[in-house]
Amino acid sequence: MSLTGSIDLGRGFVMQTPVGLASGTAGYGFELAQLADLSSVGALFTKGTTPLARRGNEPPRVAETVGGMLNSIGLQNPGVDVVAADYAPRFASLGLPVVINVAGGTVDDYVHCVRRLEAAPNIAGIELNISCPNIASGLDYGRDAGAAGRLVERVRSATVRHLMVKLSPNVTDIAAVARAVEQAGADSLSAVNTYVGMKIDRGSGRPVLGQGTGGLSGPAIHPLAIAAVASVVSAVNIPVVGAGGVDSTEAALDFFDVGAAAVQVGTHNFVDPECAPRIATALSSRVVQRTAVRVVLLDEEDRILLLHYKPPDTGEDFWCTPGGAVEGGETLEEAAVRELAEETGHSLTGVGAAAWRRVHAFRIGDGRRFRQVEHYHVRRVTHFEPTPRSLGEFEAGAIDGHRWWTVQELSATAATLQPPDLPRRVAGLLHSGAAGPAGSVA
Ligand SMILES: Cc1cc2nc3c(=O)[nH]c(=O)nc-3n(C[C@H](O)[C@H](O)[C@H](O)COP(=O)(O)O)c2cc1C
Repeated sequence: MSLTGSIDLGRGFVMQTPVGLASGTAGYGFELAQLADLSSVGALFTKGTTPLARRGNEPPRVAETVGGMLNSIGLQNPGVDVVAADYAPRFASLGLPVVINVAGGTVDDYVHCVRRLEAAPNIAGIELNISCPNIASGLDYGRDAGAAGRLVERVRSATVRHLMVKLSPNVTDIAAVARAVEQAGADSLSAVNTYVGMKIDRGSGRPVLGQGTGGLSGPAIHPLAIAAVASVVSAVNIPVVGAGGVDSTEAALDFFDVGAAAVQVGTHNFVDPECAPRIATALSSRVVQRTAVRVVLLDEEDRILLLHYKPPDTGEDFWCTPGGAVEGGETLEEAAVRELAEETGHSLTGVGAAAWRRVHAFRIGDGRRFRQVEHYHVRRVTHFEPTPRSLGEFEAGAIDGHRWWTVQELSATAATLQPPDLPRRVAGLLHSGAAGPAGSVA
């Protein structure tokens, strides 16, 4: 069981703490590293990088707003050749993983950048900005699930590196875009980029920003970003990195309460260059990332075994499948067999492949947030009465009984179930025959 806030996002990209520097708010890291010790920060997400150097938009291109700021920088950057040849060799000196944020106006732009970066050193991954609100064609990819999927598919085939896709919040259904890019091969998602906004100069009645509109960021967008991330987390299986108005440890923790795997700090870096390292240090002991297995045991009459949890002091009261956290070097199967033996006294030789998985975000009494990736296995067994063999300290105090439920009883109960969609899941498994016919006990 991993009891740290570190998170392995896949394909070699590991954040030691679940806090990164958001794209466009820390450049390529070299200046910020002179102002703050970045060693506790989980990753730097660079400024959006394009095939050719860009000067960006004419000023004014930033404006303060209530609780935030508007920007229309216009992707000012030195171009991918400079990043690959000159900056990348120097990233090692920063002492944290660097992810290159890539932007473009066409699919070929994105593919060109990713290919050019492929041989460059010290790059932990690619964050694909399909959502920059300052370039018309960039916004199109983020707005349209089909176009976003096709773009990600092309980029996926151009890199072996970790591929994170940054979602635009300026859409009707962010979950649909999230699903499309997951299917196209994204390893993770970041959400959200800035919201389109406009500030009016009250003297002239004209927009303050030269471009008219800009991207709104900072605490003003925090509740919007939380809602977007909650929706994305429930739509996909890949990790989601939250961004939007993180200016404190508490604001960062809100993202973990809705199931984010990590957060990015953006606008607040301009207010306090040391805030990201500070939040990262605070979070490393308050966020626990772990993997768990749970087993849906079905008896000969299609009844499901659930354990009743009533932890003292928390007021919680729920029913849940046997199972628990994967420990040390255990496989999912080994953990399932061990947990079943401990919690029910029942011995199984194996549990087969997982039928589904989910991210379960919860907190415990001391305020720590758990992000638990749960793998659900299904097994037929001969009906038995469980007798716990050896429970951990928490389980010993919390488990106060068990019951075999029919699907009808589960569907009708007012009791709290974990996972809440268990009746639907089990009904689906029984209907499809995936659980094997009743009475078929291995
Ligand atoms: C000045 C500025 C420049 C930004 N540039 C980029 C960029 O190049 N690429 C990108 O994907 N996001 C960019 N962003 C968006 C941020 O990375 C982040 O998603 C957003 O600002 C929300 O986080 P925040 O409220 O903590 O700033 C930029 C944001 C700001 C404020």
